[in-house]
Amino acid sequence: MRSISVTAKLFVVSLVVVMCLSISSFSSHSESGDVNEVTVEYPEGYRDWTHVKTYVVKPKSPAFSIIGGFNHVYANDKAMTGYQTGHFPNGSVIVSDVVHANDDSLNTREGARVHLDVMVKDTIHFQDPGGWRFETFEKDSKSMRFLTPTTRLDCNNCHLKHNKDMVFSNYRR
Ligand code: HEC
Repeated sequence: MRSISVTAKLFVVSLVVVMCLSISSFSSHSESGDVNEVTVEYPEGYRDWTHVKTYVVKPKSPAFSIIGGFNHVYANDKAMTGYQTGHFPNGSVIVSDVVHANDDSLNTREGARVHLDVMVKDTIHFQDPGGWRFETFEKDSKSMRFLTPTTRLDCNNCHLKHNKDMVFSNYRR
Protein backbone atom coordinates (compact mmCIF):
# COMPACT_ATOMS: atom_id res chain seq x y z
CA MET A 1 0.00 0.00 0.00
CA ARG A 2 2.80 2.35 0.99
CA SER A 3 4.66 1.70 -2.27
CA ILE A 4 1.50 2.56 -4.24
CA SER A 5 1.18 5.95 -2.56
CA VAL A 6 4.87 6.72 -3.21
CA THR A 7 4.32 5.85 -6.87
CA ALA A 8 1.22 8.05 -6.90
CA LYS A 9 3.17 10.93 -5.36
CA LEU A 10 5.95 10.53 -7.92
CA PHE A 11 3.34 10.54 -10.65
CA VAL A 12 1.82 13.78 -9.37
CA VAL A 13 5.27 15.40 -9.01
CA SER A 14 6.28 14.46 -12.56
CA LEU A 15 2.92 15.71 -13.85
CA VAL A 16 3.53 19.09 -12.21
CA VAL A 17 7.06 19.23 -13.67
CA VAL A 18 5.73 18.47 -17.17
CA MET A 19 3.04 21.15 -16.78
CA CYS A 20 5.59 23.74 -15.65
CA LEU A 21 7.89 22.89 -18.56
CA SER A 22 5.10 23.22 -21.09
CA ILE A 23 3.94 26.53 -19.60
CA SER A 24 7.49 27.91 -19.68
CA SER A 25 8.01 26.79 -23.30
CA PHE A 26 4.76 28.59 -24.19
CA SER A 27 5.99 31.77 -22.47
CA SER A 28 9.36 31.67 -24.16
CA HIS A 29 7.49 31.95 -27.45
CA SER A 30 7.28 35.66 -26.65
CA GLU A 31 9.99 37.60 -28.44
CA SER A 32 9.27 40.95 -26.87
CA GLY A 33 10.89 39.82 -23.63
CA ASP A 34 7.67 39.81 -21.61
CA VAL A 35 7.16 36.61 -19.68
CA ASN A 36 3.72 35.02 -20.15
CA GLU A 37 2.84 37.36 -22.96
CA VAL A 38 1.01 36.11 -26.02
CA THR A 39 2.40 37.83 -29.09
CA VAL A 40 0.78 39.13 -32.27
CA GLU A 41 1.18 36.75 -35.19
CA TYR A 42 2.89 38.04 -38.33
CA PRO A 43 0.02 38.91 -40.72
CA GLU A 44 0.95 36.38 -43.38
CA GLY A 45 -0.51 37.19 -46.84
CA TYR A 46 -1.69 40.70 -45.92
CA ARG A 47 -0.76 42.01 -49.37
CA ASP A 48 -3.65 39.93 -50.74
CA TRP A 49 -6.12 41.56 -48.31
CA THR A 50 -8.24 44.63 -49.10
CA HIS A 51 -6.11 47.70 -49.77
CA VAL A 52 -7.82 50.41 -47.69
CA LYS A 53 -5.66 53.38 -48.59
CA THR A 54 -2.16 54.72 -49.06
CA TYR A 55 -0.82 57.96 -47.65
CA VAL A 56 2.64 59.46 -47.73
CA VAL A 57 4.29 60.91 -44.61
CA LYS A 58 6.63 63.70 -45.71
CA PRO A 59 9.85 65.01 -44.11
CA LYS A 60 8.09 67.98 -42.46
CA SER A 61 5.79 65.66 -40.47
CA PRO A 62 6.73 65.19 -36.79
CA ALA A 63 6.16 61.47 -37.40
CA PHE A 64 8.63 61.31 -40.31
CA SER A 65 11.45 59.65 -38.35
CA ILE A 66 9.08 56.79 -37.43
CA ILE A 67 6.68 56.37 -40.35
CA GLY A 68 8.23 58.52 -43.08
CA GLY A 69 7.38 57.33 -46.60
CA PHE A 70 4.48 55.34 -48.03
CA ASN A 71 1.96 53.95 -45.53
CA HIS A 72 -0.10 51.29 -47.29
CA VAL A 73 -3.09 50.19 -45.17
CA TYR A 74 -4.58 46.68 -45.62
CA ALA A 75 -7.52 45.04 -43.81
CA ASN A 76 -8.59 41.40 -43.51
CA ASP A 77 -12.24 40.40 -44.11
CA LYS A 78 -13.30 40.86 -40.47
CA ALA A 79 -11.75 44.32 -40.38
CA MET A 80 -13.62 45.16 -43.60
CA THR A 81 -16.84 44.45 -41.70
CA GLY A 82 -15.60 47.02 -39.19
CA TYR A 83 -14.91 49.61 -41.87
CA GLN A 84 -18.51 49.11 -43.05
CA THR A 85 -20.25 49.05 -39.65
CA GLY A 86 -17.95 51.11 -37.43
CA HIS A 87 -17.59 48.13 -35.08
CA PHE A 88 -14.59 45.86 -35.58
CA PRO A 89 -15.20 42.23 -34.49
CA ASN A 90 -12.60 40.06 -32.74
CA GLY A 91 -10.17 38.72 -35.34
CA SER A 92 -9.99 42.03 -37.23
CA VAL A 93 -6.45 42.76 -38.39
CA ILE A 94 -5.27 46.03 -39.97
CA VAL A 95 -1.75 46.46 -41.31
CA SER A 96 0.10 49.63 -42.20
CA ASP A 97 3.03 48.73 -44.45
CA VAL A 98 5.60 51.52 -44.12
CA VAL A 99 7.92 51.74 -47.11
CA HIS A 100 10.61 54.36 -47.92
CA ALA A 101 9.64 56.89 -50.59
CA ASN A 102 12.50 57.53 -53.01
CA ASP A 103 12.23 60.61 -55.23
CA ASP A 104 13.81 61.11 -58.60
CA SER A 105 13.09 64.07 -60.88
CA LEU A 106 9.96 62.45 -62.33
CA ASN A 107 8.58 59.94 -59.83
CA THR A 108 8.36 58.88 -56.23
CA ARG A 109 8.91 55.14 -55.96
CA GLU A 110 8.90 52.57 -53.19
CA GLY A 111 12.24 51.74 -51.56
CA ALA A 112 12.97 49.31 -48.74
CA ARG A 113 10.38 48.46 -46.09
CA VAL A 114 10.76 50.51 -42.89
CA HIS A 115 8.50 48.32 -40.78
CA LEU A 116 5.05 46.79 -40.56
CA ASP A 117 2.56 48.29 -38.09
CA VAL A 118 -0.18 45.86 -37.08
CA MET A 119 -3.32 46.24 -34.99
CA VAL A 120 -5.32 43.15 -33.96
CA LYS A 121 -8.76 43.25 -32.33
CA ASP A 122 -8.64 40.42 -29.80
CA THR A 123 -10.32 40.83 -26.42
CA ILE A 124 -9.81 37.13 -25.57
CA HIS A 125 -6.00 36.97 -25.57
CA PHE A 126 -5.21 40.61 -24.79
CA GLN A 127 -6.49 43.10 -22.21
CA ASP A 128 -5.29 46.17 -24.07
CA PRO A 129 -7.19 49.47 -23.90
CA GLY A 130 -10.01 49.50 -26.45
CA GLY A 131 -9.55 45.80 -27.28
CA TRP A 132 -6.80 46.37 -29.87
CA ARG A 133 -3.29 44.94 -29.54
CA PHE A 134 -0.63 46.88 -31.47
CA GLU A 135 2.66 45.50 -32.78
CA THR A 136 5.47 46.57 -35.08
CA PHE A 137 7.59 44.13 -37.10
CA GLU A 138 11.03 45.46 -37.99
CA LYS A 139 11.90 45.90 -41.69
CA ASP A 140 11.12 42.63 -43.53
CA SER A 141 11.31 40.49 -40.39
CA LYS A 142 8.41 38.21 -39.52
CA SER A 143 9.63 37.67 -35.96
CA MET A 144 11.39 40.82 -34.72
CA ARG A 145 8.66 42.50 -32.68
CA PHE A 146 9.67 46.02 -31.83
CA LEU A 147 7.19 47.31 -29.24
CA THR A 148 7.52 47.26 -25.45
CA PRO A 149 4.47 47.51 -23.14
CA THR A 150 5.17 51.27 -22.79
CA THR A 151 5.58 52.09 -26.48
CA ARG A 152 2.56 49.89 -27.27
CA LEU A 153 0.47 51.97 -24.88
CA ASP A 154 1.45 55.09 -26.87
CA CYS A 155 -0.19 53.50 -29.92
CA ASN A 156 -3.37 52.68 -27.94
CA ASN A 157 -3.56 56.12 -26.33
CA CYS A 158 -3.42 58.02 -29.60
CA HIS A 159 -5.79 55.62 -31.40
CA LEU A 160 -8.22 55.83 -28.45
CA LYS A 161 -8.75 59.48 -29.39
CA HIS A 162 -10.63 58.30 -32.42
CA ASN A 163 -14.19 57.30 -31.69
CA LYS A 164 -14.66 54.89 -34.62
CA ASP A 165 -13.45 51.86 -32.63
CA MET A 166 -9.92 53.34 -32.63
CA VAL A 167 -9.48 53.11 -36.40
CA PHE A 168 -8.60 56.41 -38.09
CA SER A 169 -8.77 55.51 -41.75
CA ASN A 170 -11.89 55.19 -43.88
CA TYR A 171 -12.48 52.85 -46.75
CA ARG A 172 -13.03 54.64 -50.04
CA ARG A 173 -15.14 52.79 -52.61
C1 HEC B 1 -0.03 60.43 -32.33
C2 HEC B 1 -1.05 59.52 -32.79
C3 HEC B 1 -0.71 58.12 -33.24
C4 HEC B 1 0.15 57.22 -32.64
C5 HEC B 1 1.03 57.40 -31.41
C6 HEC B 1 0.06 56.00 -33.44
N1 HEC B 1 -0.81 56.15 -34.46
FE1 HEC B 1 -1.36 54.74 -35.82
N2 HEC B 1 -2.40 56.12 -36.86
C7 HEC B 1 -2.60 57.42 -36.49
C8 HEC B 1 -3.38 58.11 -37.50
C9 HEC B 1 -3.81 59.57 -37.46
C10 HEC B 1 -3.63 57.16 -38.51
C11 HEC B 1 -4.39 57.37 -39.83
C12 HEC B 1 -3.58 58.13 -40.85
C13 HEC B 1 -4.40 58.33 -42.11
O1 HEC B 1 -5.21 57.46 -42.46
O2 HEC B 1 -4.21 59.36 -42.74
C14 HEC B 1 -3.03 55.90 -38.05
C15 HEC B 1 -3.14 54.71 -38.73
C16 HEC B 1 -2.68 53.50 -38.25
C17 HEC B 1 -2.99 52.20 -38.83
C18 HEC B 1 -3.97 51.96 -39.97
C19 HEC B 1 -5.39 51.81 -39.35
C20 HEC B 1 -6.01 53.12 -38.91
O3 HEC B 1 -6.22 53.35 -37.70
O4 HEC B 1 -6.28 53.97 -39.80
C21 HEC B 1 -2.28 51.26 -38.12
C22 HEC B 1 -2.27 49.76 -38.35
C23 HEC B 1 -1.55 51.98 -37.10
N3 HEC B 1 -1.82 53.32 -37.18
C24 HEC B 1 -0.71 51.37 -36.18
C25 HEC B 1 -0.04 52.07 -35.19
C26 HEC B 1 0.96 51.48 -34.31
C27 HEC B 1 1.42 50.02 -34.34
C28 HEC B 1 1.35 52.46 -33.46
C29 HEC B 1 2.38 52.40 -32.36
C30 HEC B 1 3.69 51.93 -32.72
C31 HEC B 1 0.63 53.66 -33.81
N4 HEC B 1 -0.21 53.39 -34.86
C32 HEC B 1 0.78 54.86 -33.14
C33 HEC B 1 -2.18 58.00 -35.31
C34 HEC B 1 -1.30 57.43 -34.41
